[in-house]
Amino acid sequence: MNPFSAKKIIRKACEFPSIETVDWTELFGAGEFFIFVNNAALYSVDLLEISKKFMGDFADRFEPQGISVEHHLIIGRYTQTPFGVHIDDATDRVFHFNLGPVTKSMILWDSQHFAQRYSGDIARSADHVSSIGSVTFDIAPQSAFFLPASYHHVGRSEKGISIVVALAISRKSEQQLLRDASRELQELLPPRYPQASYCQNFEGDAGGTDEMFAAYDAIGLISALQHAQARRRSNKSFTEILPIQIAPLRNLHGVYAVRDGREPIAIKEADGLFLYSGGHRVILKKPESIREFERIACERRFEIYARLGEYSEAVMEVDAMKAWLVATGAARALGEAT
Ligand SMILES: [Fe+2]
Repeated sequence: MNPFSAKKIIRKACEFPSIETVDWTELFGAGEFFIFVNNAALYSVDLLEISKKFMGDFADRFEPQGISVEHHLIIGRYTQTPFGVHIDDATDRVFHFNLGPVTKSMILWDSQHFAQRYSGDIARSADHVSSIGSVTFDIAPQSAFFLPASYHHVGRSEKGISIVVALAISRKSEQQLLRDASRELQELLPPRYPQASYCQNFEGDAGGTDEMFAAYDAIGLISALQHAQARRRSNKSFTEILPIQIAPLRNLHGVYAVRDGREPIAIKEADGLFLYSGGHRVILKKPESIREFERIACERRFEIYARLGEYSEAVMEVDAMKAWLVATGAARALGEAT
């Protein structure tokens, strides 16, 4: 199966009125299949709400400085997951909720014994791991299983299809995760450099050499964090990146104010200042751009003087950054309704 056939299957699955009514056999036949959805709470407000309730006071107390939560949806009929016998990130603890309709099993191995026996903790197929010393836990439908850190494990749903929601609670703070995420995302994705037309059209093609590059992604902050985490333990695949959906901008001359609660998040890295806003990202590298952003963050208002793209490159870049703040919803024209 290639990524495009996966997409077709997702479309077909979405045509069913609810997840309980999906005819998986129609989609996959009678054999094995395995679906692993990262960032699952991004696609379901209900899931996010339930998860928040479940985390309750614990989350209020520890998020975002101490812990973070990511959500996975795991659907399939399989004798073992494609991850094989593996160990999760050492900072993670994972709750599994089996929605059914059949029992799913988790088989655990003590990690020290696993590492000694197989000369390291690298994941391997369950076919090549002895069951001696393992313990099997059956997760009945409508029940939950807590997976502590530091156990090698493999999931199995061989009696039929199980639908499992997993909440992975990471002991890493949001800031640590963000740093990891930004590093990983940079490694994963080639940067797109905006042409001059970027100032006017956020969907403009790449190809210029400006130091500031536009967000090529529609990956929100949380998504980026969750993805970077999930990627480490899954199969290094990457979520499809959507184009930025912003109408062309022609003349933004005017005075703007940063919106309350919509301030961009700024993270200083060695190679520039990362800004996140409305699901998009830019990296400022030129000192004058960074200075101007810091001034805007402090004064919470700014002006755009020029018709975009008509001035020197440096001014243009600063204007592009300001236009980006407007386009991503971080700022609005003074006098405009919130
Ligand atoms: Fe795992």
